[in-house]
Amino acid sequence: MLVSAEKMLQDAVAGQYAVGQFNINNLEWTKAILQTAQENNSPVILGVSEGAAKYMGGFKAIVGMVEGMMEYFNITVPVAIHLDHGSYEGAKNAMDAGFKSIMFDGSHYAIEENIAKTKEIVELAHAKGFSVEAEVGSIGGEEDGVVGAGEIADAKECKMIADLGVDFLAAGIGNIHGKYPANWQGLNFEALANIQRETGKLPLVLHGGTGIPVEMIKEAISLGVAKINVNTECQLSFAAATRAFIESGKDLEGKNFDPRKLLAPGTEAIKATVKEKMTIFGSVNRA
Ligand code: 13P
Repeated sequence: MLVSAEKMLQDAVAGQYAVGQFNINNLEWTKAILQTAQENNSPVILGVSEGAAKYMGGFKAIVGMVEGMMEYFNITVPVAIHLDHGSYEGAKNAMDAGFKSIMFDGSHYAIEENIAKTKEIVELAHAKGFSVEAEVGSIGGEEDGVVGAGEIADAKECKMIADLGVDFLAAGIGNIHGKYPANWQGLNFEALANIQRETGKLPLVLHGGTGIPVEMIKEAISLGVAKINVNTECQLSFAAATRAFIESGKDLEGKNFDPRKLLAPGTEAIKATVKEKMTIFGSVNRA
């Protein structure tokens, strides 16, 4: 069932688990994630960055692909298509194209402007029954060419944004996109606890899910994190399996040049990564 994400995440807060947002890049990603969610009876969020949307032929192409696949593969678990790190215009365009869940990332604006823009997007989205994620304190690392500094979000600012009626909130707590450097200090749980105190039962979002140790994931969930975003880890799994297939020379056998065969090991590797994450996040059998 294609849904907006607020109920999914309220259920996750109540049940003390997190729903994975797995970013999609193409048909193989989409199929692997949808099938793994169904096989594990888990709710799932398909994350779509504006760059990935451009690559796949636009928001409408994605909605059509996901809807078609869900019908064809008989996917009955709750699925949300969610714009990841949307701009103001991108958020509006994604909603017009049929995305029922969007992130408006105003974290790079001064807080006043972040508040003003987030407020408008919340009004637009809620008029249609769609869910909104906002962000305070930019997440470090690089995504689609945007480099965030990896701030620790101010808990009072989080409350100001939460009070606008956003459905879930991403707050920087030392997490970054991509691989963590060897000297990474880890998540700042004191900051997370302060944010949770200010925002009450609002589901919190942990970006940069790739490479965060299991104990830190569990502690974050215990402090109100209900959505964890994973992108790089699926890309690494896909690339490693594809590399192994080609290095073994199997791509030269029979008709293994057929993309349906050439991309199969990578697709299976994405499924294994998604299953592993769903198990750690505790969303298995929560659909
Ligand atoms: P990673 O690529 O580090 O897993 O982060 C994904 C993310 O936060 C998408 O918004």
